[in-house]
Amino acid sequence: MKIFTLGFVSAVGAVVSAFSYDDLLQAPRRSPAVPNKDGTTGAFTESTYSFSSHSWNASLKLVSLETGTTKAILDDANDVGDFAWAGTDAHTLLYLNESSAYTELWSLNIDSGKTKELYSFPGSVSLLKTRSTPSGVRVVVSGWAAPDGSLLSPDAPAKHDAGLLYDTTFVRHWDYWLTENRKSVFGLLLSEKDLTKVKEPFTNYLKGLGIESPIMPFPSSSDYDLHDDLLVVNAKAPELNSATNTATYFYAVNYTSSNSRDVPLNKAGYGACSSPTISRDGKKIAGLVQLENGYESDQNIVFVYELAANGTASSAKNVTYGKTFDRSPSSVFWSPDEDNVLYLTGEDTGREVLWRLDLKEPNGIPVLLNTTHSVESAEFIKSSSSKLLLSSSAIVKSTYYEIFDMKSNSTTLLLDATASVKENRVGEFWFTGSRGVQVHGFIMYPSHFDSRKKYPLAFLIHGGPQSAWTDAWSTRWNPIVWSDNGDDGYIVVTINPTGSTSYGKDFTDKIQNNWGSYPYIDLVLGLEYVTKKYTFIDSERMIAAGASYGGYMVNWIQGSALGRVFKALVTHDGVFSTLNQYGSEELYFPIHDFGGSFLKNTRGYYKFNPMNRMYHWATPHFIVHNAKDYRLPESEGLLAFNVLQELGVPSKLLHFPDENHWVLKPENSRRWHKEIFDFINHWSGSGFAMSVGDSETVLGIESAAELLAEIAAIAEIAESVDGDVEVM
Ligand SMILES: *[C@@H]1O[C@H](CO)[C@@H](O)[C@H](O)[C@H]1NC(C)=O
Ligand SMILES: *[C@@H]1O[C@H](CO)[C@@H](O)[C@H](O)[C@H]1NC(C)=O
Ligand SMILES: *[C@@H]1O[C@H](CO)[C@@H](O)[C@H](O)[C@H]1NC(C)=O
Ligand SMILES: *[C@@H]1O[C@H](CO)[C@@H](O)[C@H](O)[C@H]1NC(C)=O
Ligand SMILES: *[C@@H]1O[C@H](CO)[C@@H](O)[C@H](O)[C@H]1NC(C)=O
Ligand SMILES: *[C@@H]1O[C@H](CO)[C@@H](O)[C@H](O)[C@H]1NC(C)=O
Ligand SMILES: *[C@@H]1O[C@H](CO)[C@@H](O)[C@H](O)[C@H]1NC(C)=O
Repeated sequence: MKIFTLGFVSAVGAVVSAFSYDDLLQAPRRSPAVPNKDGTTGAFTESTYSFSSHSWNASLKLVSLETGTTKAILDDANDVGDFAWAGTDAHTLLYLNESSAYTELWSLNIDSGKTKELYSFPGSVSLLKTRSTPSGVRVVVSGWAAPDGSLLSPDAPAKHDAGLLYDTTFVRHWDYWLTENRKSVFGLLLSEKDLTKVKEPFTNYLKGLGIESPIMPFPSSSDYDLHDDLLVVNAKAPELNSATNTATYFYAVNYTSSNSRDVPLNKAGYGACSSPTISRDGKKIAGLVQLENGYESDQNIVFVYELAANGTASSAKNVTYGKTFDRSPSSVFWSPDEDNVLYLTGEDTGREVLWRLDLKEPNGIPVLLNTTHSVESAEFIKSSSSKLLLSSSAIVKSTYYEIFDMKSNSTTLLLDATASVKENRVGEFWFTGSRGVQVHGFIMYPSHFDSRKKYPLAFLIHGGPQSAWTDAWSTRWNPIVWSDNGDDGYIVVTINPTGSTSYGKDFTDKIQNNWGSYPYIDLVLGLEYVTKKYTFIDSERMIAAGASYGGYMVNWIQGSALGRVFKALVTHDGVFSTLNQYGSEELYFPIHDFGGSFLKNTRGYYKFNPMNRMYHWATPHFIVHNAKDYRLPESEGLLAFNVLQELGVPSKLLHFPDENHWVLKPENSRRWHKEIFDFINHWSGSGFAMSVGDSETVLGIESAAELLAEIAAIAEIAESVDGDVEVM
């Protein structure tokens, strides 16, 4: 495999250098590539952070879809936001210029490189989408709308006091406090011949509908889709409290008379909907629907709606419901030239894949296509149904582009990644888990791996809990960087225990009311499996680390016998007390996962609470918690740290005042890696002997039966604590 960039030495006999966190954070990051209308060229952005200049440098680039050659068309493009091809013109890109508080729409001719300002929005907007229609080029964006429906003006007078008053739940979300402003979808129509000519003025298409779209806290342009005189948007159910309900509806909105479309297309008492997409003829809308309101990780079912003249649905078909297909796709889009064919992307068995779904097939089962590693985005090239431009990534490489050909059911590499390591740095394994079903995991090897040596183990636990380690690249918790940390590196193991996504609905759903049981036992059995199978793992030098639910699990492990098996633990924005989950924002999440509200099922919150076992905490522990984390408030990290300090357990607390649940800024991320790696390297160093039992019981725990007994004992403690609480 070709190894390039980032100082890898590929000469024969030369040492391959380790992939450090500086390499990770300074590697160019790419957007998905977007093909133009004649199928000749893809456009993408590449952004590079430098620790020497302490700044980003972005450029807008083109890739030939025939040869894969690239060309930077716009350098020093730090102020370039979203971009899109201008209607049917294959030579003109539109982009958002974010250099001031008033976002501007600019055009770029890809032959001459000439740029031109077309329009200045009355405030800040993002998430650009365009469509060439018979009446002109429709340009759609999103931004914050003031209560009167206008785009929030940067010149709006500041209030004299900073108080925020609420009389209903859902007061903050992810990393912001709710105000009277709401996200909305805006747009205008430009003349196709002369893009500086505005044919229909800038309008809030949702004004007066009483709905918010795109959906916070991760607004996405996949929440709306454009057709000639029809816009479909996905919005939270306006009559339900967003803190306790996941339900969203699709609305078919008429650009010119939006008030006629205030009836949702698909109100049916279901949960969250996503990815609405309009068919070629504008008569059908496909989308993903979760049947259970309040369960954010419920399986996504493909639905197809026929549109009635008044914008409601004249029929709804649940295409994949009740079928043997138990995966949960994350996006859906129509074939450009086959009326009854949909394509889906989503997770399948630890990777992200592409499926084709023929609506004429009576069994409604999507057919897997032969793609590589993980597909991050897929777009048809031209209006043909045979080729798609894929943006993909892997554990071993950052975003790369390839062309998938339906005819041969295979991909051809178009442009390789900006950062990569050898393919053989990653392996996979399966073992029998707590419920007798197979559990999947990945193993990562350090760059100088020698199977005759012994390596410390980094055991990483994912968040969610309904999420997964996949064969994809990430700038956070990148397992390759963990494996190249320290003198000789680490073996890194990532397991997808009960509750993980990509293994089917049942595997995901089974974590409900069982946060500390099945997944915990899966992790113990997985650790037992890898330490027996991979003899190069030094079971005297193991560390465990996790974020969010992964941090919950690390705290849970700290209080169990398993906690004594590790030399160090790391909790990033984790849970100290499950009771505090009611101080979170999306209350539907604990209500679902703990079997009811705090008041109605108090027992469910006491059951697997790391705090119940804090008296046993003894292993050196690194805590990270950030100020703007409103999902798991920072008191969780402070509580854990205060308890560790009182117990005299070696511990550190790292805090970022300017980060939320995630550490996103490169300089902060560099500090995060440095402090955590210094800590685990110190404690996993040799010479810190600790008895972990004989070779037959590597973990000092006999069997799953013994673990279940431990869990039962915990549940009993929960019952007794619960005894003092009046349960409604
Ligand atoms: C950004 O990168 C481009 C292309 O590599 C280079 O020409 C330009 O000087 C860089 N700008 C800065 C500010 O580093
Ligand atoms: C963005 O707009 C500013 C101000 O109008 C201009 O100076 C700058 O060149 C523009 N940048 C791009 C990439 O269009
Ligand atoms: C949108 O509204 C206009 C004006 O009322 C009407 O002419 C047009 O047919 C409507 N479009 C759709 C798709 O209903
Ligand atoms: C929309 O039209 C359908 C028939 O096509 C009718 O059944 C339905 O009641 C109408 N809905 C509204 C809100 O007008
Ligand atoms: C799905 O469709 C079938 C067949 O039309 C119908 O019987 C069933 O009630 C539908 N279920 C849901 C949840 O929409
Ligand atoms: C395409 O390849 C996948 C394997 O990745 C296979 O499961 C599927 O059956 C193939 N489809 C066709 C039509 O050959
Ligand atoms: C999948 O594609 C690869 C080449 O990318 C090819 O070697 C393999 O045979 C294909 N598998 C199937 C099932 O088509």
